Amino acid sequence: MIVRNLRLRNFRNYESAVIELGEGMNIITGENAQGKTNLLESLVYLSLTRSHRISDEKKLIREEMPFADISCTLNDGGEKEIEAIIHHKGKTLMISRNPVKKSSDFIGQLNVVLFAPDDLYLFNDQPRERRRIMNQEITKISTPYLLSLNQYQNLLRERNIILKQETADERYLDILDEQMADAESLIVKKRTEFADTVNEAMSGLYREISEDDIRVTMKYRCCIENKDDLRASLLRMHRESRQRDIERRMTLNGIHREDLVFEKDGVSLIQTASQGQKRMTMLAFKMALLRYIQKETGKKPVLLLDDVLSELDSNRQKKLLNMVREPYQCLITATDVPEEIRKGNYREFRIEHGTVINITGGRE
Ligand SMILES: Nc1ncnc2c1ncn2[C@@H]1O[C@H](COP(=O)(O)OP(=O)(O)OP(=O)(O)O)[C@@H](O)[C@H]1O
Ligand SMILES: [Mg+2]
Repeated sequence: MIVRNLRLRNFRNYESAVIELGEGMNIITGENAQGKTNLLESLVYLSLTRSHRISDEKKLIREEMPFADISCTLNDGGEKEIEAIIHHKGKTLMISRNPVKKSSDFIGQLNVVLFAPDDLYLFNDQPRERRRIMNQEITKISTPYLLSLNQYQNLLRERNIILKQETADERYLDILDEQMADAESLIVKKRTEFADTVNEAMSGLYREISEDDIRVTMKYRCCIENKDDLRASLLRMHRESRQRDIERRMTLNGIHREDLVFEKDGVSLIQTASQGQKRMTMLAFKMALLRYIQKETGKKPVLLLDDVLSELDSNRQKKLLNMVREPYQCLITATDVPEEIRKGNYREFRIEHGTVINITGGRE
C-alpha cells in the first residue's frame, strides 16, 4: 500500500498543501511547532477516521475556517482516492468521490502504523488504553470485529441498567447473556489471533533492533481460560458471576475487563525494564503490528515514525532503518535529516509554518 499524493486544505496549520510522497523513505523536517506531526496526523485520520491526539475534531480545522479537507491517492494494486472532510458538525468520508455512510466501510482503506514518543505510556496506562490499541488494530483488518464490539457495548450497557434495578429481571439477563456470548466469541477469537501473531514476532524483532539478549513478550489476559468451546465458556462465565453481578450491580466479567500484559523475561515490563528497553519494546511491538496487518490483509501498511530517531543511538537508528527502508513506505519526522538516512535513498519535505518545501537534495 503506497500513498502517492497527500492533499491538505485548512487542516491544522496547513492552508493548502500537496505532498508527492515517494515509495520508500520520506523524511519530514522542520523546526518545532511547524506542522510535522500535523502531517502524520492527517494520515492517521484517513486510516482511523479520527485523530490519535485529540477527540475534539473541531481543533483539526484551521482556525476560523468552516471545514478541513484531507485526501490522498492510494495505490494498493489499483488506484483510488480517499477523502475526509471535517466540518464543525461532523464529517464526510469518500472513496473515489463516492460518499461512504459508515466509518466501518472507510476504515481499512489506508492502514498506517504510527510510532510516537507518547506511546510509551501504554505500558503504564490503565488496561482500557491497551484494549483501545488492540481494538484499533483489529478493527483495521476486520469489520465484523468492529460490529461485534459495538453490539457488545450496547448489550453491556443494557445489562448494567438491569443490574442497577431494585430486583434484576433474570429472564431478561438470560437473553442478554446469550447475546453477549455471541458477540464475545468473535471478539475473543480475533483477540487471540492478534495476540498470538504479535507475540510471535515481538521477541525476535526486539533482539534484531536492540541486540539486547532479553525476551520480551505480550500476553493476552482473556476473561476465560478454556477456549475449546468459546461460546459455551463465555456463557458459563456470565452465568457463574450472575449473583455477584447482582450484588455489585454491575457486570464484573467479560471482554470489557481484558488486558494485554507486557513482560521482560517473564516479569512485568513496567516494573523491571529501563526506559531504553521500554522504548525498544514499543518499537518491536509496532513492527510486529506491521506484520500482523500485512499477514491479515495481504497489504503492507504505511509506517509513520514521529520523532523517534532522535531518541536512538546511531547503531539502533541504522538497525531500525534497515528493517523498514526496503519493504515499507515510511514517513519520518525529525528536525533535520539524520546521518543514517543520508546514506540511502529518500525524499525530503521541509515544513515551515504549515508550508511544504520540496528539497531537491533528497535522493531517490
Ligand atoms: N486548528 C489549527 N489551526 C491553526 N494552527 C494550528 C491548529 N492546530 C494546531 N496548529 C498549529 O500547529 C503547530 C503544531 O504543529 P505540530 O504539532 O505538527 O508541530 P511539529 O512540527 O510536530 O513540532 P515538534 O517538533 O515540536 O513536535 C502549532 O504552531 C499550532 O499552533
Ligand atoms: Mg511533533
